[in-house]
Amino acid sequence: ELCKGINGLDKIVLREVRGSSAEVYLYGGHVTSWKNDHGEELLFLSSKAIFKPPKAIRGGIPICFPQFSNHGSLEQHGFARNRIWSIDNDPPPFPTSTSAKAFVDLILKPTEEDLKIWPHSFEFRLRISLSPAGDLMLTSRIRNTNADGKPFTFTFAYHTYFSVSDISEVRVEGLETLDYLDNLQNKERFTEQGDAITFEAEVDKIYLGTPTKIAILDHEKKRTFVLRKDGLPDAVVWNPWEKKAKAMADFGDEEYKHMLCVEAAAVEKPITLKPGEEWRGRQELSAVPSSYCSGQ
Ligand code: BG6
Repeated sequence: ELCKGINGLDKIVLREVRGSSAEVYLYGGHVTSWKNDHGEELLFLSSKAIFKPPKAIRGGIPICFPQFSNHGSLEQHGFARNRIWSIDNDPPPFPTSTSAKAFVDLILKPTEEDLKIWPHSFEFRLRISLSPAGDLMLTSRIRNTNADGKPFTFTFAYHTYFSVSDISEVRVEGLETLDYLDNLQNKERFTEQGDAITFEAEVDKIYLGTPTKIAILDHEKKRTFVLRKDGLPDAVVWNPWEKKAKAMADFGDEEYKHMLCVEAAAVEKPITLKPGEEWRGRQELSAVPSSYCSGQ
């Protein structure tokens, strides 16, 4: 269902028969809402989010492509998150068919202007789907369509903002003992020590070569998010905390308490595609009551 969202921007609403739903803006190919079958919002979206190009929407799931963060010469997180995507009415078949009935296929191709800042032609196809159980799946397929025979290289992230009740009651499981690059310390490499990860200050880390499954436990809400990923070896964990929150115009001063970004990403080893080659990167999110998860 295509309709008008904030500021008249086009948005697509996906609804699953059991009641879960998702909203996707063509601006950025950006998921801004994901609700379970009780109508509870599972993603964080800032009350100060600016729905106006060229500012990416603060919250939901921005797509970082062709560059993650400032790891390169392009604008922060690349340009895909602030371009207008199109609906792809005739997507090529998926290698594995999805059982989901609620889905949308989007496509992004570079404009003449984009080619000036990143001289590579590509087709970026993004399928967003809801499973009958309400899981949210994002599949990206990026193809090198360069006619000049040249390969291109990119980094990527699904910059997911999870909604949490109280960041100091949240822990992340699955990243213990891994190596990470710390953005707050000149991208230096460290090894995570000890138990599950908890939060008491600003964090901006890229965990390297992580397991395909990461859990985000919201103790207060008694909810666990399970993130499963494929083709995306790294995971970024970000919370701006108090000081940075205050410095961001499109983010409320206290909102850092109610969000956590855990981002399925490919950063440390950039992906190279030769002409005609396609890369696929997938993220699947589910939200389950914590009691069902004990022992995981
Ligand atoms: C994270 C980065 O993924 O995104 C942080 O690791 C960055 O360094 C954050 O501050 C937000 O970026 P932006 O461009 O959306 O403000």
